[in-house]
Amino acid sequence: MFNKQTIKDLDVKGKRVLLRVDFNVPLNEKGKITSDKRIVAELPTIKLLMKKGAKIIICSHLGRPEGKVDSKFSLKPVAEKLSKLLKKSVLFTGKLVEPETKKIIKAMEEGDIFMLENLRFDPGEEANSPAFAKKLASVADIYCDDAFGVMHRSHASVVGVPALLPSCIGLLVEKEVDSFNKLTTTPKKPVLAILGGSKIKDKINMINNIFNFADKVIIGGAMAYTFLAAQGYDVGKSRVEQDKIAIAKMLLDIAEEKNVKVLLPVDHVVAQEFTFLADSIIIQTKGFASSDIGMDIGPRTIKQFKTEINKARTIFWNGPMGVFEFQKFSNGTRAVAEAVAKSKATTIVGGGDSVAAISQFGLESQITHISTGGGASLKYLEGNGLVGLNVITDKVEVE
Ligand code: 3PG
Repeated sequence: MFNKQTIKDLDVKGKRVLLRVDFNVPLNEKGKITSDKRIVAELPTIKLLMKKGAKIIICSHLGRPEGKVDSKFSLKPVAEKLSKLLKKSVLFTGKLVEPETKKIIKAMEEGDIFMLENLRFDPGEEANSPAFAKKLASVADIYCDDAFGVMHRSHASVVGVPALLPSCIGLLVEKEVDSFNKLTTTPKKPVLAILGGSKIKDKINMINNIFNFADKVIIGGAMAYTFLAAQGYDVGKSRVEQDKIAIAKMLLDIAEEKNVKVLLPVDHVVAQEFTFLADSIIIQTKGFASSDIGMDIGPRTIKQFKTEINKARTIFWNGPMGVFEFQKFSNGTRAVAEAVAKSKATTIVGGGDSVAAISQFGLESQITHISTGGGASLKYLEGNGLVGLNVITDKVEVE
């Protein structure tokens, strides 16, 4: 049961609300924002806070400046973008909590918005320094965490501040958590998980937990080669995590014990070199030559995976099926993305690359929930909550 206090539960009129958001947006070499999705996703919470008469102090990280002030990671362009989207001025002074900031915050009126500079310009943020948390908490009456993408990090603004102030989650975190909770606890059956991407390494605990609620698991992408190697296949020069073969074997055994069907690719698009122009052929799983590199799933696999997607009533997708950033090897990922988008099932997409694929193929509007959290969504699916969520004040039970 979800029992965390949300922004809807609190009276914030006239109160200073420190709103932790994840405005870690991609920037190009010229410092221009190349996707404003994370800013757009935050607008409902900001608008609700404005409507409720809060004084809104926004804080976020951007990139990894490693505790030093670095203008290339300034939140200035983000404050400007937010101001444009809200059609309202967003105060930004390029400072964290300093005497000057305190003066401005003191003069704020209901509905005003002030944005602090990048939290990671201070080494105290990532070190979870109690002094930095205290400084941040000193400018607010209430803390609201709406930064789902960073809730797996034990940083001062994520776990330190909520220990010092009454706390709640925002609308975005509520939506994220609700979608993942439904997926893991009350999904419409059958549940299909589609996993891909290059590495098993960061996903072992998540895969293990997925076997607790999924009926079938599709594994594609480079990850599949480690699983095929675990089944004893020779996969040529495909990317195999040698030190994870034993774990892959163990995961396959766990799936069998739990009666979860694991589907691996049966055919492959292979090349002799890892380049976007490389010549390619299609081979069956038993047909790898010692120099073959698996670049994408083959047509028989696509057909099989599509059949499974059509049978599922809940689908979770994380990770591409091949090297989709090379157009020539993007067919498998595109086919899976299109089938997931077309499906009548509840569909949840989480993780950087699969979200990028959905966006690249223009399918965003056809997905039930696209997570704004990469690492955080994978961590949450491990089944042990998130450090930033666990510290939020529980809802007051009404008898
Ligand atoms: C993300 O983009 O995944 C989040 O903003 C977290 O960023 P981090 O991996 O630098 O902590």
